[in-house]
Amino acid sequence: MTAGKKLTHVNKMNKKNEKNRLKSLFPEIVHYSNSDMLPLHMPGHKRLADFMGGIGKYDITEIDGFDDLHHPSGILKEAMAAAADLYQSHATYFLVNGSTCGILAAIAAVTKPREKILIARNCHKAVLNAVSLRELDPVYVYPKECGILGVTGSVDPEEISQALAKEEDIRAVVVTSPTYEGVVSDIATIAAIVHNRGIPLIVDGAHGAHFRFGTDFPAAALDCGADIVVESLHKTLPSLTQTALLHVKSTLVDNKEVTYALQIFQSSSPSYLLIASITECLALMAKDGANMMAKYSENLFSLRQVLEGLSGVTLLRQTAGFFDYDPGKIVFGVEGYGGGEIAAHLRADFHVETEMASPRYLLALTSVCDTKETLFRFQTALSRLCHGLPAREALPFPSIAAVAAEKVMTPAAARRKTWQRRDLRESCRCVAAENLYLYPPGTPLVVAGERFSPEIIAALEVYEKMGFLVHGVHNRQVFVVSEKMSR
Ligand SMILES: Cc1ncc(COP(=O)(O)O)c(C=O)c1O
Repeated sequence: MTAGKKLTHVNKMNKKNEKNRLKSLFPEIVHYSNSDMLPLHMPGHKRLADFMGGIGKYDITEIDGFDDLHHPSGILKEAMAAAADLYQSHATYFLVNGSTCGILAAIAAVTKPREKILIARNCHKAVLNAVSLRELDPVYVYPKECGILGVTGSVDPEEISQALAKEEDIRAVVVTSPTYEGVVSDIATIAAIVHNRGIPLIVDGAHGAHFRFGTDFPAAALDCGADIVVESLHKTLPSLTQTALLHVKSTLVDNKEVTYALQIFQSSSPSYLLIASITECLALMAKDGANMMAKYSENLFSLRQVLEGLSGVTLLRQTAGFFDYDPGKIVFGVEGYGGGEIAAHLRADFHVETEMASPRYLLALTSVCDTKETLFRFQTALSRLCHGLPAREALPFPSIAAVAAEKVMTPAAARRKTWQRRDLRESCRCVAAENLYLYPPGTPLVVAGERFSPEIIAALEVYEKMGFLVHGVHNRQVFVVSEKMSR
């Protein structure tokens, strides 16, 4: 980790913002809502006081004086320029449809239909949806499982290099960093490799919006040379659900294409509650982010120390196969117990709701808004729970890392063919018509257009038996491309 370098960057960023201060738009909305202006405009709830406990009072969309998200020329133009200053990007766009719309727009902006794209296979479904919509031809690298809890490790830059050497006409590369579990890849090295080919690197940084504000966290992808980075503010910073940012810092990306794609994938009636929340979040983090993150990392450090010492608990941490790791993701497993079982105990007995439970582990998601007290409450709950649980033998778990499957046609081509249902067991050699992915963690196992192999079918059967939720398997049946087309 480059803590020294990062501190300088945070200081520089704050100085720059003294000139171009980020301000929250929320006071302007409060002022408007409290005025006597008669709202003969959307939304239809008309800000009635008794509508959902008054939650609509500040819910406005694009009205006079509040600019236009898709053609900004006033307060939103200024706010996004201030955000770009904060991030030292060439352009930063506010997103009100989550990182999902940012990923769709980023991929659409840098590719033309039917071009090739290189993707680290542990990607979110938004990446595959973009591939399908844009009719792209995907090529994959497959990050490997690491030793701890079977979590998928970092993307190997060497594999990116080899894939680019093998396929000459790849037009862009997409990497997820950090992953849901907090695993970070070496974006600086990957960016250098990708730029050597003159193509852009898109980083799905949905889970890493907080990195840039703290010195004890991995470096932010945008500072490591990524051309486009998409970050969900709502996942790890104080901001409302669905809020996210798309940053461009590149000479390889045409901002006109990004703007065009964003107005396709974002609502034409953006919620100003969401937009105000983005500005509120950025203003707060610009002003006080460094202090808040310092306290947060101190509290996290104490929590992680205690959890490391709990008998029977395995805590995910920096390990071989991880380039770097986000300490804010508390990923843990309890020997002999499935993740769902532990999550159920925490919920029922201690009123603690975790972010995600997979058969093998759980993710307790912390953020800069957690306090010493909230983290202590979680720590106490888990300690008490683990002391009270009868010891059990460790459970065997199959690997959940995606394996390479034979690509027969593109996902878009598979969608266009006639589909038929097949028993999973009888689908060997057939071509998948849909993506099949384990949820959680959401990693695609088979992508539409790929052939089912005996190994993949065997793995899917094991996952199903163990209670993994496999999207794309419907009552032990799957959709395949009609027989004649699949051989
Ligand atoms: C890795 C990753 N990328 C992108 C997304 C989509 O983010 P959002 O919920 O902000 O649309 C998610 C959602 O969980 C995700 O896990």
